[in-house]
Amino acid sequence: MTGTTTQIDFREIDKILEKYEYKKSYLIAMLQNVQEVFRYLPEEAMTYIGEKVDGLSPATVYGVATFYAQFSLEPKGKYEIRVCDGTACHVRGSMPVLNAIKNKLKLKEGQKTCDNGLFSLEIVSCLGACGLAPVCMVNDKVYPQMTSDAISVILDTLMKEEGVA
Ligand code: FES
Repeated sequence: MTGTTTQIDFREIDKILEKYEYKKSYLIAMLQNVQEVFRYLPEEAMTYIGEKVDGLSPATVYGVATFYAQFSLEPKGKYEIRVCDGTACHVRGSMPVLNAIKNKLKLKEGQKTCDNGLFSLEIVSCLGACGLAPVCMVNDKVYPQMTSDAISVILDTLMKEEGVA
């Protein structure tokens, strides 16, 4: 495992461990909570849990975290953008939407989170709203029938709100 530069407040993790009484049977819930706080699972947090909870080890925690797709081991942006590229969305034009996002956020090939850490981008295979294709989500909000122009306006608005426009 490699080190990261993220500053971890271990008191936050202690609070989570206390809530679950340091029981290894609650590992998944603990990891979900940690991810809610940090928006991903920092390596230091997984190691810490592995050392503090009886019956676990850092390797076990890491193994569980990598098994489940819901966990991200990389930092995510404040705004998590999900673009559906399932069949219905692809056919109705998800690619131009995706390209517009990449351009707007200046993402290089393979880069998932933009340099200022505000936005991260993920491609998913179906968001369960095929009738509204092409569909995007920004955090919990669903944006139906997206176009490259519409997503550009949405991102511009968010950037303005964040003072980075
Ligand atoms: S294919 Fe995009 S929501 Fe189902």
